[in-house]
Amino acid sequence: MSQREILVTSALPYANGQIHLGHMLEHIQADIWVRAMRMAGHTVHFVCADDAHGTSIMLRAEREGITPQALIGRVLEQHRADFRDFGVAYDHYATTDGETNRALTGAIWEQLKAGGHVEARPVTQLYDPVKRMFLPDRFIKGECPHCHSKDQYGDACEVCGKTYTPTDLIEPYSVVSGATPVEKESRHLFVKLADFAERLTHWLEQRRADGGLQPEVVNKLKEWFAEGLRSWDVSRDAPYFGFEIPGEPGKYFYVWVDAPVGYLAAFKELCESGRKPGLDGTDFDRFLRDDAGTELVHFIGKDIVYFHTLFWPAMLMGAGLRTPSAVNVHGFLTVNGAKMSKSRGTFIEARTYLRHLEPDYLRYFFATQLGPTLADVDLDLKAFEERVNSHLVGKWVNIASRTAGFLHKFFDGRLAAKLSAEAAGHYAFARNKLRDRVDQARSFERRDYAQVLREIIDVTDYANAIIDENKPWQLARDETRRAELHDIGTLAINFFRLLTAYLKPVIPATAARAETFLGDALARFDCVDRPLLDHRIGTFTPLITRIDRKQIDAMIEASKESLQSAAPPASGPQPSALSPQSAALSPSPPTISIDDFAKLDLRIGKVLQCEFVDGSDKLLRFELDAGELGRRQIFSGIRAAYREPDKLIGRKVVFIANLAPRKMRFGVSEGMILSAGAGGEALYLLDVDDGAQPGMPVK
Ligand code: 2FM
Ligand code: ZN
Repeated sequence: MSQREILVTSALPYANGQIHLGHMLEHIQADIWVRAMRMAGHTVHFVCADDAHGTSIMLRAEREGITPQALIGRVLEQHRADFRDFGVAYDHYATTDGETNRALTGAIWEQLKAGGHVEARPVTQLYDPVKRMFLPDRFIKGECPHCHSKDQYGDACEVCGKTYTPTDLIEPYSVVSGATPVEKESRHLFVKLADFAERLTHWLEQRRADGGLQPEVVNKLKEWFAEGLRSWDVSRDAPYFGFEIPGEPGKYFYVWVDAPVGYLAAFKELCESGRKPGLDGTDFDRFLRDDAGTELVHFIGKDIVYFHTLFWPAMLMGAGLRTPSAVNVHGFLTVNGAKMSKSRGTFIEARTYLRHLEPDYLRYFFATQLGPTLADVDLDLKAFEERVNSHLVGKWVNIASRTAGFLHKFFDGRLAAKLSAEAAGHYAFARNKLRDRVDQARSFERRDYAQVLREIIDVTDYANAIIDENKPWQLARDETRRAELHDIGTLAINFFRLLTAYLKPVIPATAARAETFLGDALARFDCVDRPLLDHRIGTFTPLITRIDRKQIDAMIEASKESLQSAAPPASGPQPSALSPQSAALSPSPPTISIDDFAKLDLRIGKVLQCEFVDGSDKLLRFELDAGELGRRQIFSGIRAAYREPDKLIGRKVVFIANLAPRKMRFGVSEGMILSAGAGGEALYLLDVDDGAQPGMPVK
C-alpha cells in the first residue's frame, strides 16, 4: 500500500465549557484512527483547536468579570491537559482566536467576495434594549406558542418539541438581561450557497463513491439539496466576540465562519512552528492546493453535519482551496442508556473521570462500541467494568502474566532462538488472521473498531486456549521438558506482542508499558510479521489493574457534587444560566477583584408590601422602600420558605439594586432580594441590624 499523507481534525470544542465524555468519544475515535493509520505506515498530521468566538463566550466572560481573552486562555490550558491526559495526542492544539486564523479567514472572505458570492440584505431580529445587543435564538426565552410551557428557548420547545421563531414566543424575555426584546433591523452579509450547488453535488457524488461520506449523510445532504440552498447569514453585529469583518466596521464574522478555518490555521501554525519533522512553512500551501496528493479528514458529531458538508466545502470552493476528503460522522454518547444527566451524575467531565479511572479503560470501551455508522454509543457502566476487566485484564494481560515468570526462572528472561514447527504454525495463524481481518479488511481505516476488537479478542482466546492445552505450569515441574516449556513460553510472549501491536492505537499508555516489558518498540503493525526470538524480555509488572466498582461509583458521586456546587441560586427570579453551553460546571466561582464587587449596588430595603402572586407557586411580590432610590417592586422565588408574606412587612432586607430590570408575566422585577440556603423551603432572608436605613449601600 502506498504511503498517504493525511490531515486529521476533530471538531473544535467551544472555549467556555469543560470537556466531558461526550467530547471524548469523538476525540478518542479520531486519535485511534490517527494512531492506526500511522501504524499502517501513513503520514498523519493531527490538529484541533478551541472554538473561541461567539456570544456565549462573550457573556460567560462578562459574567465572570474577566475579558474573553482571559477566559479562553484559561480554558485552552484545561482543554489541552484533558486531551493530553486521555492520550489524545494532537500535533498542535490551537485556538481560533489567533492571528493565523484571522488572516486565513480574511483571505478566504476576500476570495468569496471577489467571486461575487457575497450579498448584503437587511435582517429583522430580536434585540435586547437593555443590554443593547441582538439576541441569538438561544438567548431568548418565553412561553411556547403551542403547549404554553414557560421558559422555552427561542427556537424550539423542550416540552412539546415544536420549532418556531423567537417572535412566536409569548411574553419573550432576554436571557441576558430579562428585558422584553424588541424587533430591530440591521444589514447582514450572506454567502450565496446556491452558487456552489453544482460543485457541491459533484463533491457529494465523489465522496459517496469513495466512502468519504457515510450513506446516511449522503441521504441527508440530498434532502437538503432538494429543499434548495438558502444563502448563509455570516455576519453578526457588535457587541460580539469574534473577528471584525474587514471593511465592515461593527460587523463580525459569525463564529461558524472562522471555526472551520481554525482547522487550517492550526495546521498552518504546526507547519510554521517547525516542530514536526518533515513539515515546514511551505507544506501548508502544498497541502491546500494539492487536492490529488493529500487528504483532509474531519471527525464530527451528527449535530454539525450541515456546517461541514455544505457551508465548509462551499467556503473552500469559493476560495479556490482543496475540499475535505472525508467527513466522518459519529452519533451521540448516552450513559446507561439515557442522555447524560447532571442530576444522575452521568454528565461526566473528562477531569472527573481522570481523577477516578484510567483513560485507557474508556478508550477501550468506546472502541468496542464504535462502528462506521452514526449510531449513538452507550457507556453502560456495568458493561464498561465487566468488559475492561474481562478483556484486558482477564484475557490479554493474562497471556503475559502467566508465562513471564517461568521464562525468567528457567531461561533468564530469554525467548527461544526458534519456534517449533507447531508453535510457528500457531503464530502464523494468529498473525494472518489479524492481517486479513484488520489490515486487509481495513477495519481501523473504516472506523469499525468494534470489529477490530472482536478479532483481537478472538485471537486472545485462541492464544489462551493454546497455552491451556500445553499446560506450561505442568511442564515447568518436569526438568526433561525444558525445550517444550521454552517453546510455549516464547509463543505466548509472541501472541502477547502481536496483540499489543493491534491494541496499541486503542490503549496507547498501557501498550507503552507492555512494550517496556517486551523490550521491543512496536511502531508499525508489520513489526509483528515475524516473531520476536532470542531476545531478553523485561520483568513483568502489572500493566493494568481491574476496575473496581467503587471507582465508578465515586466518579458518579463526584459528578453530582460538581453539579451541586455550580447550581444556580434558587431564590431570585433572574435566570442565571446564560446559555446552553454555559451550563458548564465550575466547582466554585473564580476570585474577583474589589472592583468587581464594587459593580454590585447592594442596598437596604424596607418591606412595605409583600404578597402572594396569582398564578405563581414560587413567587412573592415585594414592594420595598429603597430610600433615595424610591420604591422598588421585586419578585422573589421564596414563597415556599415564607408562607405568611404579611409577616415580612416592616422588616429590612438586602437587595441588588442595579440588576437590569426584568419583565415578567406579573410585572417588572426591579432587583433581587438576597437569601441564603439551598432553595425551596430552605431559604433564609438576611437580617439587618438596627440603625441601617432604607437605601443605605451595603459594602
Ligand atoms: O459544535 C461545536 O462544538 C463547535 N464548536 C464545533 C466547531 S467545529 C469546526 F467547524 F470548527
Ligand atoms: Zn411547547
